[in-house]
Amino acid sequence: MPGARSKELYGKAQELFPGGVNSPVRAAVKPYPFYVERAEGAYIYTVDGERLIDYVLGYGPLFLGHRHPKVYEALQRQLEKGWFYGAPYELEIKLAEKILKYYHPGGMVRFVNTGTEATMTAIRLARGFTGRDLIIKFNGCYHGAHDAVLVGAGSAAAEYGVPSSKGVPDSVAKLTLVARYNDTRSVEKLMRKYGDNVAAIIVEPVVGNAGVIPPQREFLKALREIASTYGSLLIMDEVITGFRLALGGAQQYYGVKGDITTLGKIVGGGMPIGVVVAEKHIMKELTPLGKVFNAGTFNAHPATMAAGLATIEVLETGEPYRIAGEAAKALVEELSSLIEEYGVRATINHVESMFQIFFTGHEVLSPEDAQKSRKEAYAALHEELLRRGVFIAPSQMEAVFTSAAHTSEVVEETISALREVFKKLHGEGKL
Ligand SMILES: Cc1ncc(COP(=O)(O)O)c(C=O)c1O
Repeated sequence: MPGARSKELYGKAQELFPGGVNSPVRAAVKPYPFYVERAEGAYIYTVDGERLIDYVLGYGPLFLGHRHPKVYEALQRQLEKGWFYGAPYELEIKLAEKILKYYHPGGMVRFVNTGTEATMTAIRLARGFTGRDLIIKFNGCYHGAHDAVLVGAGSAAAEYGVPSSKGVPDSVAKLTLVARYNDTRSVEKLMRKYGDNVAAIIVEPVVGNAGVIPPQREFLKALREIASTYGSLLIMDEVITGFRLALGGAQQYYGVKGDITTLGKIVGGGMPIGVVVAEKHIMKELTPLGKVFNAGTFNAHPATMAAGLATIEVLETGEPYRIAGEAAKALVEELSSLIEEYGVRATINHVESMFQIFFTGHEVLSPEDAQKSRKEAYAALHEELLRRGVFIAPSQMEAVFTSAAHTSEVVEETISALREVFKKLHGEGKL
């Protein structure tokens, strides 16, 4: 559990930051968040002298684990040359070429600094390109912290009871129509009524912000067809899934292409990033070539370009996918047998290196289903694991991630902790 030093720091932080943190989910670690001293591989070392196995991994970006030597070297090389110019730099070309190879060959890229900026820019681009105002998103999907998508949002917005944020004017919120994930008919219904004015459908191809929820067979394909039928663009928000499910993300994994892809997290190698990618005829609408405005002091930051490129080069060896995939599989198998052994009402959703356990007797096919699971049971699991040095997402509305640093030894250690925790919580009637 977080110790005295963390408690002291959190005490100070509460005077300085709303809720003591700078992003809400960080406050979900109870009774107070641990403060980090340093991190390496699969481990976080806290200021209280504890070592934690990290399955949160910065909420997704650290697919190679903490402080990977290749990324470290690339950053060091970059620091030697200065770390920010505000002028074009060769590494942005190299990273863009890599991204285009896997997402939209022959297309174009705009680098921004966060996933939020990426989806904000993608939506503006879709509106500018189509001349239409409405967008469709899915209830419980999270696409960042800007007005157009803070309607029926997932992740921390759902956790803290503000899926539709105060401060977003009604006149803005009403431009965002909300459909149900994995429910094609809910999209068709909206399209029949509003299709001629829908600029884009934006979707997390695998929901990673309501636990983990994979698409049902044909769901993504149906979205593709519906968008094309109505002349709307399909925005695949791959901020989590991009470079995680495969080099070409969920679009490669499921064989369905969006018109615009948004990336973030992994592609920045742990440095802040967002990316908008699409074919040239769409991207040409962006300033300075077109009339859809985007700009950013820190866009294509050299340190980010260096870390992102080094990360992709390691991913291209295939090893990270093998290790992270095997780790997740072993953990899911263990959890499944514990669920069976103790007769717990729970279900697990799993895609490659991301999974989540839901304490419910039903399948979880939508964020609405996820909301119905027993949150107290998940909170107890999180807390007891943390006591034993294993850090999983503090909220049911997030994913558990594995990385290339989660070797079989790390997984074995986690499995021992899981066995102890299930035994204890079952004994206490908390599962
Ligand atoms: C699918 C998705 N899109 C967009 C975002 C926003 O990214 P950022 O937090 O970098 O602004 C997130 C963040 O978790 C995300 O999961």
